[in-house]
Amino acid sequence: MTKHVRILIIYNLFVCALCGSAVPSWAVAALCIVSLCVVLSCALCVWKKCLKKKDKDNEKDKKKGKEKSKGGSDTEMEGGYHEVPLKDEDNKETELSDKKPKEEEKLGRLHFSLDYNFTDNMLVVGILQAAELAAMDVGGSSDPYVKLYLLPDKKKKFETKVHRKTLEPSFNETFTFKVPYTELGGKTLVMTVYDFDRFSKHDAIGVVKIPMSSVDFSQSLQEWRDLQKAEKEESERLGDICLSLRYVPTAGKLTVVILEAKNLKKMDVGGLSDPYVKIHLMQNGKRLKKKKTTIKKNTLNPYYNESFSFEVTCEQIEKVQVAVTVLDYDKIGKNDAIGKVLLGSNSTGTEQRHWADMLANPRRPIAQWHSLQPEDEVNTLISNKK
Ligand SMILES: *[C@@H]1O[C@H](CO)[C@@H](O)[C@H](O)[C@H]1NC(C)=O
Ligand SMILES: *[C@@H]1O[C@H](CO)[C@@H](O)[C@H](O)[C@H]1NC(C)=O
Ligand SMILES: *[C@@H]1O[C@H](CO)[C@@H](O)[C@H](O)[C@H]1NC(C)=O
Ligand SMILES: *[C@@H]1O[C@H](CO)[C@@H](O)[C@H](O)[C@H]1NC(C)=O
Repeated sequence: MTKHVRILIIYNLFVCALCGSAVPSWAVAALCIVSLCVVLSCALCVWKKCLKKKDKDNEKDKKKGKEKSKGGSDTEMEGGYHEVPLKDEDNKETELSDKKPKEEEKLGRLHFSLDYNFTDNMLVVGILQAAELAAMDVGGSSDPYVKLYLLPDKKKKFETKVHRKTLEPSFNETFTFKVPYTELGGKTLVMTVYDFDRFSKHDAIGVVKIPMSSVDFSQSLQEWRDLQKAEKEESERLGDICLSLRYVPTAGKLTVVILEAKNLKKMDVGGLSDPYVKIHLMQNGKRLKKKKTTIKKNTLNPYYNESFSFEVTCEQIEKVQVAVTVLDYDKIGKNDAIGKVLLGSNSTGTEQRHWADMLANPRRPIAQWHSLQPEDEVNTLISNKK
């Protein structure tokens, strides 16, 4: 605007000079005075705006606690106007970049390999190692292991061994998924790093998801990826059960204590469930013994603390399985199974670990939480491994 004012002044002076020669002097004087008035009022106007602007800028700066006060002090209005939005944008940008690392807390990195075996139609996944894992335990450490599956199929899951008290585990384990190459593109590999915790639900530290369509399988690949925050729970939650296992080899006695269950899935549309627990001792898919707890009325978090003993010899203990089923008692209809876990020979994951810990600690009761699995999934597991 000041540029315009300057041009106006020059123009007026020019007009005045021009007028001075030809036109009557009273007219020239009048024209000059009018022009000068216009110029002066313009200049005054601009100066006032400038002042206001400066005050506003100062206020803004004060509010934001910014010490840098640039806005139009001796600069031109135009400059002042532009600077304000620019400054705001700058602030936003710096704020964003300040926040980003805080929101995405560092969870760690996973090193893995991917390969497709075209002769056997198998996806070969190597879980190599993890680094800089977030500490989930009070002691500033974690007991990490990796669970992996190939979406959309969540049933076929693999788990690595648990590595105790480390944030830099070296897993170095390989897993294979049998998938025709033509179907691979529609699948997503999900690798979740968990912190093993015997007494609570295992916490996911983070997850790496790889759409198979994004991978070039013409050569094998090794890569580090940052862990992303894992969603709360990827599969349908049926609930958790806490039980203790104890084996006394000399007496040939296996004791299962059903302690409690929590967050059981509602089986009735209205109201809660009346849950009870059935325990089957099995061998080669056959039921050898059956026991059950009392029924707890109207609850999804039943507490049992009921103990059951089975005679199992030392030779037998390597071969038996214990199937634990939580059911909803129904006076009229069939009792619905809420979920099931399988312990013992050929069990997998957490269940297998619990059994192994029991065998490694004879005479000592070992309690652990387990996530209930769909009954039919566990049943296929049992019948497959006959
Ligand atoms: C695929 O697997 C088979 C056996 O599992 C192995 O003999 C073969 O070398 C593998 N092929 C490749 C390309 O790795
Ligand atoms: C991983 O396993 C391979 C073969 O099984 C072995 O050669 C390699 O040294 C192992 N690496 C680590 C870091 O344990
Ligand atoms: C569970 O039962 C055992 C024996 O039946 C008893 O000694 C123990 O105190 C009970 N625990 C709780 C927490 O009720
Ligand atoms: C467990 O699996 C092995 C082979 O993986 C099999 O030989 C054995 O019979 C199975 N045991 C039971 C009890 O199912």
